[in-house]
Amino acid sequence: MKNNREQWGSRLGFILAASGSAVGLGNIWKFPHMAGQNGGAAFTIVYLICILIVGLPILLGELSIGRRTQLSPVGAFNRLSGSSNWKWVGYLGVGSAFVILSFYGVVGGWTLKYTIFSLTGGFDSLSGSPELSGQVFSSFIESSFQPIIWQIVFMAFCIGIIIKGVKSGIEEGAKIMMPLILIILGFLVVKGLSLEGGRKGLEFLFKPKFSDLNPSSIVLALGHAFFTLSLGMGTMITYGSYLNKKQNLMNSAIWIILLDTFIAMLAGTAIFTIVFAMGADPSSGAGLIFVVLPTIFPQIGGGIIWGTLFFFILFMAALTSAISILEVITAYFIDQKGWSRFKATFLFGGVITLVGIFCSLSLGNLNVTAFLNITFFDFLDELSSKYMLPIGGALTAVFIINKWSVNTFLDEILTGVQEKHLNRGLLINVLKVLLVVSSLIVGLIILNELSDLLFGSSLQKMVGL
Ligand code: PHE
Repeated sequence: MKNNREQWGSRLGFILAASGSAVGLGNIWKFPHMAGQNGGAAFTIVYLICILIVGLPILLGELSIGRRTQLSPVGAFNRLSGSSNWKWVGYLGVGSAFVILSFYGVVGGWTLKYTIFSLTGGFDSLSGSPELSGQVFSSFIESSFQPIIWQIVFMAFCIGIIIKGVKSGIEEGAKIMMPLILIILGFLVVKGLSLEGGRKGLEFLFKPKFSDLNPSSIVLALGHAFFTLSLGMGTMITYGSYLNKKQNLMNSAIWIILLDTFIAMLAGTAIFTIVFAMGADPSSGAGLIFVVLPTIFPQIGGGIIWGTLFFFILFMAALTSAISILEVITAYFIDQKGWSRFKATFLFGGVITLVGIFCSLSLGNLNVTAFLNITFFDFLDELSSKYMLPIGGALTAVFIINKWSVNTFLDEILTGVQEKHLNRGLLINVLKVLLVVSSLIVGLIILNELSDLLFGSSLQKMVGL
């Protein structure tokens, strides 16, 4: 074990950095519209069950693998499996990081542009006019230069923070940004609830409508549970590798899950109370944030401030997640290739920015995957969230059951736990059941997606659901 490996400065710092990774575009942008379109509270309940059954065991698994080996994914799988092929699960993680950050950085740039756009009063001319707002947004993301400049600025923030190191860069950044996100979201929720008619938004999001729930929304909730907790690509292995043996992993995992879920609920509440109070369309899906919200902010008192704050927290949430993605790649080159942190981050941050430029251009007039009938941007998004992350997560669960042993996994979880009178036999069985169930569930999602891709019909359609 290397003695000079960097470590988190404090337990709180680690929890904020790991939940900073979890809280991202997935919480503030994806969750609200997915819940809104799939039965509101009914979707929320299924999502919470997925988080507990699939998310918790795999999150614990990743943190334990990282802390036990004090290595990032490739080295970690290599060491625990005695140099067998399992290291490829680590490589898959590094590959996923590459793929995800390429398009994530582009959206990160959009959040920055919209923060400044709001601050300079740009939303005023869009007030009450979703069509115009849609045109403005499309012409921005489809243009060649502007979005690339913003993407480069966003990636520069990300690279700049990682270069400063685990404790003084990543941890310090999270300690500033996470509390800010929570506080500002809190203000936005209060503002939303105080608007006349805002409470209807609460009903929309939290009143169960089980009739709206169908098998595909269950699959969606499962996939999202993975994405939102940053699982399946070794982010949590990497963050776990900077932990010492005194930390209680179970406790930390529960904190990460609670913060992630709480922020998703706050974001949903803030967005839908404002949308309902202003009579806007709540089911406009993915365009809700960049198209609909800019048309409503100018209509509420102090709209410039609220709009700017909203896009600013979206920017910070995206940034803390992007940092955790790039750190997987940086840590690989430090651990396995002996590179300096500066060289690894700068070089690969640069390469990813370059690939990201092609993602951005694919929305306009240079689409390198045109022959597949999909934009390069969507291609990378789907490849990672539908296939790479779930496959990585399921393989991690299989690795723990078949190769590493649940017994050693439990030892690692219990290192740092004070309570000594635990029923080990029972805990081992619970862990086994959870890991088997989660790998089966995830396996099923992947099969479902593959059958949809290859035969144009998903399993649930085939069996007539
Ligand atoms: N969890 C992040 C979000 O919700 C995305 C992410 C995925 C981050 C995978 C790291 C790894 O936006």
